[in-house]
Amino acid sequence: MRTPLVMGNWKLNGTKESVTALVKALLEPAAANSGVETAVCAPVIFIGMVEELTKGSALKYGSEDVDVHVSGAYTGENSPAMLREFGCTYAIVGHSERRAYHNETDAVVAAKFRAAQDAGLIPVLCIGESLEQFEAGQTTEVCATQLKAVIDACGIASFSKAVIAYEPIWAIGTGKTATPEIAQNVHAGIRKLLAEYDPAVAEGVRILYGGSCNAKTAYDLFRQPDIDGGLVGGASLKAPDFQVIIESASKTL
Ligand code: 13P
Repeated sequence: MRTPLVMGNWKLNGTKESVTALVKALLEPAAANSGVETAVCAPVIFIGMVEELTKGSALKYGSEDVDVHVSGAYTGENSPAMLREFGCTYAIVGHSERRAYHNETDAVVAAKFRAAQDAGLIPVLCIGESLEQFEAGQTTEVCATQLKAVIDACGIASFSKAVIAYEPIWAIGTGKTATPEIAQNVHAGIRKLLAEYDPAVAEGVRILYGGSCNAKTAYDLFRQPDIDGGLVGGASLKAPDFQVIIESASKTL
């Protein structure tokens, strides 16, 4: 039985005031739904604040990206060791916005996945197809290529300490959530691919859905057998909505 994980991805949003209010509002829901793991991924500048605000609570947190280097002359980057020192549990790697706006290739994403894991962070590997690829029926192939790049570089066993997030690009921030059937199909395909390498790893890994996952759509998505929670953008910035999403996950237990 996989523990559902509901994770917020704040992207480039927040002020000191809004972050304080949001984290405080999530401390109780995170503790109340003991069968569900809850986490937020924050812009790095807020991570020290999140560390202070979440002390002693069940709410976990992470970064939205991570560099491949531990230290050195890499202006502007944040190393996995630094994120660990500030108490991060997770690091998102390969988000489609990083792939698109920062030219992150599958090889770069695999290197970030490995660097995060080496430092003791749990990488949350994002994969997913564009609208064009979806319409051309290439979803399975695109997801397999993105996944295999990491399996080849880091080994299948590395997925026993990682999370996968299927995020169809056409569903991100568009309000067009993938139907539970579409998402379940892709998630089952991802698990099947992993099972070809190692059935136990495939059975244990949590595969989150992301892309307009909100208070209305979460429950029907989370009810699917291969959907183990959500990676939530816009709706994670509103405490009442995120709370409903956490509750939706607990209702599936
Ligand atoms: P939205 O929930 O805003 O569609 O964003 C999803 C996402 O990209 C999470 O990483």
